[in-house]
Amino acid sequence: MTKIDVLLGLQWGDEGKGKIVDVLTPGYDVIARFQGGPNAGHTLEFNGMKHVLHIIPSGIFHQDKINLIGNGVLIEPRIFQQEIKDLEAKGVDARRNLYISQKAHLILPSHRMMDAANEQSKGKAKIGSTLKGIGPAYTDKIARTGLRVGDTLASDFAERYARLKNQHLMMARAMDYDVAQFRIDGMTLEEYEQVWMDSLATLKSFRFVASEYFVNRCLQEGKRVLAEGAQAMMLDIDFGTYPFVTSSNTITAGVCTGLGVAPSAIGKVMGITKAYCTRVGAGPFPTQLDDETGKRLCEVGHEYGATTGRPRRCGWIDLPALRYACMINGVTELYVTKPDVMNDFDTVSMCTAYEIDGRTTDEIPFEYNTLAIKPLLEPFAGWKQSLAGVESYDALPQALKDYLAAIERQTGVPIAAVSISPDRKDVLFKQAVGS
Ligand code: IMP
Repeated sequence: MTKIDVLLGLQWGDEGKGKIVDVLTPGYDVIARFQGGPNAGHTLEFNGMKHVLHIIPSGIFHQDKINLIGNGVLIEPRIFQQEIKDLEAKGVDARRNLYISQKAHLILPSHRMMDAANEQSKGKAKIGSTLKGIGPAYTDKIARTGLRVGDTLASDFAERYARLKNQHLMMARAMDYDVAQFRIDGMTLEEYEQVWMDSLATLKSFRFVASEYFVNRCLQEGKRVLAEGAQAMMLDIDFGTYPFVTSSNTITAGVCTGLGVAPSAIGKVMGITKAYCTRVGAGPFPTQLDDETGKRLCEVGHEYGATTGRPRRCGWIDLPALRYACMINGVTELYVTKPDVMNDFDTVSMCTAYEIDGRTTDEIPFEYNTLAIKPLLEPFAGWKQSLAGVESYDALPQALKDYLAAIERQTGVPIAAVSISPDRKDVLFKQAVGS
């Protein structure tokens, strides 16, 4: 029996997970998503083309690999249909190698309306949700009122759908939300509902599986399985910066509940971190830079949301948060992305601890959202050179290697590889793969 390896983001998302999964995929037989939904935007670049995936696992471009959408994932059928069409336009036939859990929950059009209603009712305290219906759909899952992929085959699906939608309409009206002005892609709720219903045919043309048996059977047969996380540690519903989080367990523990594997089946835990830090949406971010350096990180790093297009907030790498992430997830190796964004910087800093009320701490406080947190910064000399054409970890500039070594020292976790451009060929492993 093999173990299931896990890959997840250790910051607030957008660490470059899609790309690293794509690079690691040749070493795996199965790539499985275990949580989140179309709020995710996993960007892959190869052969000069850019691809953004939302629900479908990042192994889909490798046609000999199995891709699995687990029970912990949310599926919005219309977005799924569009993703399938985009893949078809690129010559990828996902029907050959994509399997979907019967137990994955559905995002209804009215979940998306409820997301908008909830955000509107919060006023200034908005989460900055991607408005894909994530919170309301997981709310219904926990409330035991949700609809699952397998339910689309039931004879009473239409009635159950109508019952749930009516509940949402009642709630929206009770919140004084103007349902008539709600739009998705320019369509009213009723218009969108029509295209959503039509898109169920695409969903149903895929293989629905009991994914817990499927994945455990794969492990028993000795197949190598990679669990691909979405969002990231600091957006976890339990351990993230609540309430400025997403509504699922984005952490290693989420693999067990989102795929149906035992804790003892977890193998390597690969954590992805940018060489700096970004956050999209609202919520605390102690190392955020509201100055020219922050703007430079945003511009050079093309830090705009892959799902919403919103500019991301940028700042220095936050080691108290990273250590917390390594602890909660049991990270066994780090992947560091985008140091090339800082190629021209004279100085590159890292936050090694926080100062709160005159006290130094390296722990994440309960009052993270409200306390004034001063990041204590350690400066490093910049490497001041392009990384283009660097072909091995050893050949990286010494100043960058010193910076990376400090990350290893501070987290106690070894770096497996560093990614120095958006292209899949530019991931430099510290040791030869397999050694
Ligand atoms: P929701 O999951 O769409 O409700 O969004 C909740 C929060 O998580 C917002 O601040 C979003 O910007 C953030 N978020 C959700 N998904 C992602 C992601 O894939 N990358 C980065 N941030 C995300």
